[in-house]
Amino acid sequence: MVNIGVLISGSGTNLQAIIDNVALGNIKGQIKLVISNRKDAYGLTRAKNAGIKSLFIDRKDFNSEEEYNRKLIEEFEREEVELIVLAGYLRILSKDFVQKYRGRIINIHPSLIPSFCGKGCYGDKVHQMVLESGVKITGATVHFVDEGTDTGPIILQKAVEVKDDDTVETLKERVLKVEHQLLPQAIKLYCENRLSIEGRKVRIR
Ligand code: GRF
Repeated sequence: MVNIGVLISGSGTNLQAIIDNVALGNIKGQIKLVISNRKDAYGLTRAKNAGIKSLFIDRKDFNSEEEYNRKLIEEFEREEVELIVLAGYLRILSKDFVQKYRGRIINIHPSLIPSFCGKGCYGDKVHQMVLESGVKITGATVHFVDEGTDTGPIILQKAVEVKDDDTVETLKERVLKVEHQLLPQAIKLYCENRLSIEGRKVRIR
């Protein structure tokens, strides 16, 4: 049984998808701790409703990103967390954090990386850029996290059609539905030890 820790900043619908899949027995893992950097993140309520330990840790209580990340590590170690999932977490992880959990941090991004990603490109902004660019296909990507932003080895991707009359809201909703399938699937594969990282590639056994 893999101990999972989840970092959130917002509504937590991806967190909810993981909670639901664990409850259904689809994932050989358990969420031990949910941490948010935002006090008002509805994901904290979702965790509480599911009986999962949750913490709001305020960045303002720390003097640096490194110190903040040391606190995150301390709390995840307390729960003996093995796999870290970024489910709409909007802060950048410190080098120490990425080093410590190398190959064990999974992130979900609402586009087909390497398109529409990188610094400052998250949440609704991603869909805004997709619509402005005129592409016909977007999608969702689940990847391992490395020192870059949205640059780690890709685990799973799924395409989503962009419709002519799409707004940010309609497109976001269609992509979220795919995210809610893809992220639990990637976590399932990790927990079944079916993922191996070979350079830039992730092999699925
Ligand atoms: C999702 O679109 C995810 O791809 C992005 O942030 C959003 C989080 O949504 N990283 P939620 O908090 O899981 O509902």
